[in-house]
Amino acid sequence: MLNKKVVLYVTGSIAAYKSVYLLRELQRNGAEVRVVMTSFAEKFVSSLTFASLSKHFVYDDNSFTDDAEQIKHIELAKWADLSIVAPASADFIAKLANGIADNFALTTLLATDSRKIIVPAMNDVMFHNFATQNNLEVLKKNQITVLDTATGMLAEGYSAKGRMLEPLDIINQVKRSLIKTGELNNFKILVTAGGTQEDIDPVRVISNRSSGKMGYAIAEAAAQAGAEVTLISANCNLQASSGIKVVPVRTSSELMNTVLSELPSYDALIMAAAVSDFRVHEVAKQKIKKDPNQDYFELILEKTPDILKQVALAKQEHQLIVGFAAETQNFEKNAQKKLKAKGLNMIVLNDVSNPKIGFSSDDNQVTIIDDKQKVIKTEIASKIEIAQKIIEIVEQKLR
Ligand code: CTP
Repeated sequence: MLNKKVVLYVTGSIAAYKSVYLLRELQRNGAEVRVVMTSFAEKFVSSLTFASLSKHFVYDDNSFTDDAEQIKHIELAKWADLSIVAPASADFIAKLANGIADNFALTTLLATDSRKIIVPAMNDVMFHNFATQNNLEVLKKNQITVLDTATGMLAEGYSAKGRMLEPLDIINQVKRSLIKTGELNNFKILVTAGGTQEDIDPVRVISNRSSGKMGYAIAEAAAQAGAEVTLISANCNLQASSGIKVVPVRTSSELMNTVLSELPSYDALIMAAAVSDFRVHEVAKQKIKKDPNQDYFELILEKTPDILKQVALAKQEHQLIVGFAAETQNFEKNAQKKLKAKGLNMIVLNDVSNPKIGFSSDDNQVTIIDDKQKVIKTEIASKIEIAQKIIEIVEQKLR
C-alpha cells in the first residue's frame, strides 16, 4: 500500500493521459492525491478530469494568489509526503535540475522536501540528447529517483525508447523505491511462475489453469525487498516490472533445464510454477486428423521428471528451496508429504478448489509450512500481500 499524501505533477507530454490512470492506481493503493498541472499539460488533458477523480481542485499557474495568508505553493509543498512528476518533459527536467521556478509546479517542487520521483516521457532523440542525460544525472546525484523510459511506439509513429512507463509499472517502482530497507539487498532469488505446456501435435497442447499471478507477485515482492530477481515464466500473459529479468519457457523440460542451469548462482528458488506431471509419450509430427468413425481418442502419457526432486539433488547447503502445493483435499497432510518427498525448506499450500482464491483470482490464502513444522496461515489477501508475507519469511530464513 501507498498510504501517503502524494502530489502528482503532470507536465506537457502526450503521455499526460496516462497520468489519469496513474492517479486512479495511486488512489487504489491508498494514496491521497493532489494534482498540479503545467499550462502545457492542460493542452493535452483537461484539468477537470484530474479534479473530478482526485475530488479536489487542480493546482496550476492560476493558483498563485496575492493572499499573504495563503501561500498555496508552500502549503502544498509542506503537505506532500511524496512528489511524483509523471510525465516529466525534457524542458521540465532541465528547469528542475537547474532550480528554475518559473511556474507553479516548479516553484512547489523547489519548496518541498518530500521524496521526489521523476517519470520521463519524450521523443527518443530528446531523451538521448546529452543535455537531457546530464540533467537526469544531476537529479539522481541529488537523491531524486529517476525512473527509466520504456521502449515502444512513440507519438511520432515509430518504436523507440522514450515512452512513459505504464501506470502499474510506475506504482511498483515507486513502492520499491520507498521500501525502508533493502532487506534482501545482495541476495539473488530465482522464481518460477505460470503453467507449462506439453505438445500433443504441432497445434495442440496439454496445460493447466495457472495464470502466473502468484509467481509474478513473488518476483515483485522480492525485487521490492532489494533482491536481484530472475523470473522463469511459463506461458504467462503478464508484465513483470522493469528490473526483473524474465526468462520465458514453454514445456516442463525447458523449465527444468532453465531452473537447473540458473540454480547454482542463486540464494533461493521459489517454485510457484504449475508443472505438467505428464506429457505425451510420442508427440505427433503432423496435426492429428479427426477420424469420422472414432468417438474416443486415446493418448499415452508419460511422467515428466519432478523438477524439485532434481533440485534437491543439485542444491548447495546454503540455498533455500520453496515449493508450492496445489491441493483440493487433505490439504496439510498432502503438503507435509510434498515438503518431505521433495526435500524442501518450506512449502506454500494453496486450496485451488476455492474459486475466490484459486487460479486467475487476484486474491489468495495460503498456509506456509517449514521443515521445522512451523505452520503459518494467512488471511485472504491480495496476491501481492501474500507474496510479501512469503518473502518476509524467506528473508528471515536466508539471514
Ligand atoms: N513440481 C515440480 N515438478 C513437477 C511437478 C511439480 O517441481 N513435475 C513442483 C511444483 O512447482 C510445486 C510443487 O512441485 O512447487 C508441488 O506441485 P503440485 O502440482 O502441487 O504437486 P505434484 O508434485 O505435481 O503432485 P500431485 O500432482 O500429485 O499433487
